[in-house]
Amino acid sequence: MTQHLAAAASPDAAVPDSRWWRDAVIYQVYPRSFADGDGDGMGDLTGIRSRLPYLRDLGVDAVWLSPFYASPQADAGYDVADYRAVDPMFGTLLDADALIREAHALGLRIIVDLVPNHSSDRHDWFQRALAEGPGSPLRERYHFRPGKGAHGELPPNDWESIFGGPAWTRVADGEWYLHLFAPEQPDFNWEHPAVRDEFRSILRFWLDMGVDGFRVDVAHGLVKAAGLPDIGAENQLSLLGNDVMPFFDQDGVHEIYRSWRKVLAEYSPWPSAGGTPSERIMVAEAWTPTVERTANYVRPDEMHQAFNFQYLGTSWDAAELRTVIDASLAAMRPVGAPATWVLSNHDVTRHATRLANPPGLGTQLRTAGDRELGLRRARAATLLMLALPGSAYVYQGEELGLPDVTDLPDEVRQDPSFLRAAQADGASGQDGFRDGCRVPIPWTVEGSSYGFGQGGSWLPQPAEWGGLSVQAQSGDPASTLELYRRALAVRRAQPGLGAGEDVEWLDAPEGVLVFRREGFVCTANVTGSPVTLATPGRLLLASADLTEDGPHTVLPADTTAWWAV
Ligand code: NOJ
Repeated sequence: MTQHLAAAASPDAAVPDSRWWRDAVIYQVYPRSFADGDGDGMGDLTGIRSRLPYLRDLGVDAVWLSPFYASPQADAGYDVADYRAVDPMFGTLLDADALIREAHALGLRIIVDLVPNHSSDRHDWFQRALAEGPGSPLRERYHFRPGKGAHGELPPNDWESIFGGPAWTRVADGEWYLHLFAPEQPDFNWEHPAVRDEFRSILRFWLDMGVDGFRVDVAHGLVKAAGLPDIGAENQLSLLGNDVMPFFDQDGVHEIYRSWRKVLAEYSPWPSAGGTPSERIMVAEAWTPTVERTANYVRPDEMHQAFNFQYLGTSWDAAELRTVIDASLAAMRPVGAPATWVLSNHDVTRHATRLANPPGLGTQLRTAGDRELGLRRARAATLLMLALPGSAYVYQGEELGLPDVTDLPDEVRQDPSFLRAAQADGASGQDGFRDGCRVPIPWTVEGSSYGFGQGGSWLPQPAEWGGLSVQAQSGDPASTLELYRRALAVRRAQPGLGAGEDVEWLDAPEGVLVFRREGFVCTANVTGSPVTLATPGRLLLASADLTEDGPHTVLPADTTAWWAV
């Protein structure tokens, strides 16, 4: 089945280096909100296929698809009932096959999401474990335990779910099961050999379908500390936090990734008919306390990349940015992995909104802030990110400068963390909840859902989104979309960009970052006032208009510029 891909790949689209991923720009598609092919208000694989040429023209190297597997959607598809099936709301396996072929024909690689920490409670194993009752061998594939207290009425330990409330739910026969996320997401017991075998088989299934890699969900969570010890009331979690916990970042997870790497090695590099080898990759979603701990996931016999959430969480502050860039590069050097950079995804406030607010408010605040300032900084932050060595992730809609939607009515929201909080204490408001960054993206100026589909959109889009659509921005040199297109084109053409492992910092006024790469200088003014610099070279691109004055250049507030030297 794998052979069709090589035949489909066009020769000029192929990246000659099997290690394409080291400096790849990877675009995250959130399937329910990208494009709706069948007009039911929910995005789908047909919709994504129709927009692949847009992604090729944008200039990205690969597309990561958030889950589209069979799922009751208790956590927007991160609750998988069948890892080898496509949910009917997204299409069929044939659609997935067509999507992979068409992407490859356009020179785009496809990375799919793998969700190994937990299944859906509708997964066959869990359903059978429930039906068979205490003592069933199937219960050992999850974490079932008797409760504490005289009648087993208390949870087995004090862990709290990341979505709020206890991390344990009691079933009718009196036992409890563990779910670090929603009750509909029971955690697998990774000590069980059947779980390990099953996931190696799932990897092979998708590799045989031709995918180029996997984004591994909650990669830091699979192994729990022996005995499932209490953690103490003061240590409970914040949503997707970085804290050290007996269920996160346990050393035992690494053995699992070493075994997966061996599976990938059977498929990599791809011996394509055109002779172009291409490695299959894994990228870890691992929220760890430090970049050094993150580096453990990308040792040479484990994964290829790990998301750099420390970078994502850094404020718009020159000193802090420089520190995290240096620490990220230093942490990756000993393990030989490329650094990665990311500013937005489907779990955090979009960076155009984060940067519109005062620093230090975290990645989960949902207040609109100063929109103009946020967009200006977001454009500058993106050019800074794309100038760094390594691989960069772009979340759908950030190329349009989309903000978070910060006024969604409660009744339309579907994030389980919101639903759990609303149930528990009637919570309302937007902070800590993720629907605001998941609103379907606008493609056209007019239309019921601005070109997202023919049948509205599952979350309401703000009235002004037509003006932010792909159609509205295409061809406008001042638009954010055209900035991304130019930036990605320059990044492809400029050999020093993305490649390598280092930046050379040059002297700069306070609040300004200036660094050199091969044949290239990046200047980022991270302050609220213009600064005058010696013109470093020939201007390639800037996030805002510059004033060049002979040997000097005035870099406006919150602006990044790229220079050929
Ligand atoms: C991380 C995913 O990105 C998030 O959306 C999901 O809710 C949790 N993992 C649980 O799978």
